Amino acid sequence: MTMEIKRVGVVGCGLMGSGIAQTCAQSGYETLVHEVNQQLLDKGLARICGAWEMLVSKQKLSEGQAQEARARLRGTLTLEAFHDCDLVIEAIIENMDEKRKLFPQLDRILRSDALIASNTSSLTIIEMAAMTNRQDRIAGLHFFNPAPVMKLVEVVRTIATSDETVETLKGFAQSLGKTPVVARDRAGFIVNFLLIPYMLAAIRMYEQGFATMEDIDTSMKLGCGYPMGPFELLDYVGLDTTLYAAQAIYDDFKDALYAPPPLLRRMVLAGRYGKKNGKGFSNMNDM
Ligand code: 3HC
Repeated sequence: MTMEIKRVGVVGCGLMGSGIAQTCAQSGYETLVHEVNQQLLDKGLARICGAWEMLVSKQKLSEGQAQEARARLRGTLTLEAFHDCDLVIEAIIENMDEKRKLFPQLDRILRSDALIASNTSSLTIIEMAAMTNRQDRIAGLHFFNPAPVMKLVEVVRTIATSDETVETLKGFAQSLGKTPVVARDRAGFIVNFLLIPYMLAAIRMYEQGFATMEDIDTSMKLGCGYPMGPFELLDYVGLDTTLYAAQAIYDDFKDALYAPPPLLRRMVLAGRYGKKNGKGFSNMNDM
């Protein structure tokens, strides 16, 4: 049995939230996206509209399709506006304290049969679900950056998630043109459990003088056919996001593979977050 999803809420209109909202509106869902202030909301909505303009200019979307998608998308500054959503996807910052504050609010506002999903990249979903009275209706729904382009969605099943919730979210991911995989609620799920140690290993190799960053990137692109080298990918994903994800997996497993290398910590301490603020590994020597 699956539940019908018509209206989708997205909490957070940053890089991931806006990509998820864009994908939902483009796929025919009434989509409501929340930000904490007008400036951030305007910025996120402008990013989405910019992507639609780009797709129209590349003739991947007709003018009419872009207008229809725009008409299905609304922004809000109040969580109460989610009251009639069938599914709300949380895409706020990777901070468990913030998520633990948000989940009970959503639980109070949403209909009792509505689903809540977290786009967290590595935090434990059951810790968020435990703040609500609907643990069976909560799961992870992890998109990859850039969300409108990457074809995978991890559906993360906790010890309390119902079969109906898992099946509904798998069907929802397919309706967005994505391929769902089901992962257990272990920090890192599938992709980040493999990807994070790869990126951390590249930083350690650089710290230990194996090669330049450029040559490490070139090696993985030309030697393995990866679209980006590890340093390009670190900048693209965000150094802060990578640090939080690595720390969360390390906290769960205490495996040294996931211990953030000192250079990554220092980059984040220095406010160098990668592409999102234009300061990362690619222009480290400009400092
Ligand atoms: N909406 C729809 N389509 C979009 C888009 C958007 N917002 N942004 C870009 N696109 C499309 C473009 O139109 C283009 O399509 P085309 O090739 O048919 O013209 C295509 O996406 C590629 O875009 P670009 O031409 O601008 O750029 P590239 O060809 O250089 O590809 C890339 C960019 C897709 C990002 C590629 O470099 C890539 O796949 N990199 C690896 C990304 C990756 O590994 N992501 C996962 C990170 S891990 C993660 O997210 C997990 C987290 O928890 C840490």
